[in-house]
Amino acid sequence: MEEFSSERLGRLTGMLKRRGVILPAFEIHGGAAGLYDFGPVGGRLRNRVNQSWIEHWQSLGNIVEISSPTVTPYPVLEASGHVGEFSDFVTECQNCGEASRADHLVEDIHPNADALTKSALIDLIKSHNPECPSCGSSSWGPIDAQNLMFNTKIGAGSSGRQAFLRPETAQGMFTSFTSIYRHFRERLPFGALQTGKGYRNEISPRQGMIRLREFNMAELEYFIDPESEPVHDFSIWNQSLNLISEESGSISMTISEAVSKGIIRHPTVGYFMGWTMDFLTNVGINPEHLRFRQHESDEMAHYAQDCWDAEINGSYGWVECVGIAHRGCYDLTAHENATGQRLRAWRTFSEPRVVEINGWTTDGAKAGPAFRALAGKVKLAVEEMSADSSFPISLDIEGEVVEVLPEHVKRVQRTENVNGEWYVPHVVEPAFGIDRIIWHLLDHSYSETEKSGEDYTLLRLPEAIAPVDVTVLPLYEKDGMGEMAERIHRDLCGRKNVFSVYDASGSIGRRYARADEIGVPYCITVDHDSITDNTVTLRSRDTGEQTRVSIDDLPF
Ligand code: GLY
Repeated sequence: MEEFSSERLGRLTGMLKRRGVILPAFEIHGGAAGLYDFGPVGGRLRNRVNQSWIEHWQSLGNIVEISSPTVTPYPVLEASGHVGEFSDFVTECQNCGEASRADHLVEDIHPNADALTKSALIDLIKSHNPECPSCGSSSWGPIDAQNLMFNTKIGAGSSGRQAFLRPETAQGMFTSFTSIYRHFRERLPFGALQTGKGYRNEISPRQGMIRLREFNMAELEYFIDPESEPVHDFSIWNQSLNLISEESGSISMTISEAVSKGIIRHPTVGYFMGWTMDFLTNVGINPEHLRFRQHESDEMAHYAQDCWDAEINGSYGWVECVGIAHRGCYDLTAHENATGQRLRAWRTFSEPRVVEINGWTTDGAKAGPAFRALAGKVKLAVEEMSADSSFPISLDIEGEVVEVLPEHVKRVQRTENVNGEWYVPHVVEPAFGIDRIIWHLLDHSYSETEKSGEDYTLLRLPEAIAPVDVTVLPLYEKDGMGEMAERIHRDLCGRKNVFSVYDASGSIGRRYARADEIGVPYCITVDHDSITDNTVTLRSRDTGEQTRVSIDDLPF
């Protein structure tokens, strides 16, 4: 691979736009920052990457695919912590009015600027006076937290409910937990995945496909019992990985070693790092430009206990493209607390245990009518109370104060032989930014050479994700060659998972070059001999080799 440079980046983005791979959206109306189209070539590339991601994770054997809405009611994202926590610090240039992320203004000065507190950012900006990326002046207004979610409304008028476009697909998997649990016959571990759009109203998106306001996500939520030791086979990865760990810094070691030394803190996180590496290299990421970086404790998302990012090096430097987070029981507990619905799994003990139950529960016949929609939550709160609690008592249930009277509760005191218990599963989540991955696999596959004294570009995309599988080229559109090429093209398009393009425009050399530029692995040329002997020329993108094959033996 050639060196990354801003000149190469310009040529690559120019080609992607010209050939309909990735291009700025709504350009005829002036465009909108952070929004991109996958064009006539890119659409299938995105689809194939998504599909291979789904198949890769489903091959674990205990994963289902779901699809939940992108429009998400306010209470869901309030419960998940996104309403309160999902924000960046923003400041405005006093000269031109351009808003900037405060941490981006000082990221060259501080390696972990995105983990800084508001007051630390204020101090750094004051002491270093960074320039406005838009106008170059150095006069900054106050710093404020801005929530990154797009607001919307479900329904119209005063009965409309406040909602957001989802900032992650993950919440759909948590709110569907009961149905997924039932699907898996109530046996953990299992996972649910989905691919789809996510939305973040980024403050100042720059860097092309790296920071988008609407983006393609692919997330797996893998539910585990925190008390059972996961069994994973790490022997499938014997190569060393580039790791940057919170405590040991930059190291190179196998996943198995990093897990056994506790550098990767949970075996399932390690296993998914290996699974992630396999996916990324299969779709065309160069392993020499891949590393895993552990989040510092103060850098982690509000829901995470440990997180490793897969970072990929390319024209924009090292960029986070995947986050593999241990979310613990954060999300299921949060939704349980907010709704009063039990989001738990049953754990059977190896031996029955004698358990003393000594506390309170609600009397459904009285508490139900008294607390109505809040009855479930009141029950959970009362069951958490100790035996010596007394009633009446005021409880704050999600901001609403309710008065629990003696008649609403019943004392519970007994010993029981129990053979199991309910627990809140933990979650390990590999979350992929599909657009960033597509950008990097294009960046890594793009190669500039010379042919016959002219610049020549090639995309060495793996066959499994190439947006066009084959182009069919009649040498000329005469003497029956055009018709025969057209027939072959239509026949190929009718085959499962094959996408063919018919191209009869320009010299044959120009057509090969066009196919190479967008990474078509094979070209089929129909010439005069084809008409008489039913053979065609099959040309390989990677070797340039041309072989004569019968049209009945085409390898598609
Ligand atoms: N679900 C992980 C993320 O939003 O980045």
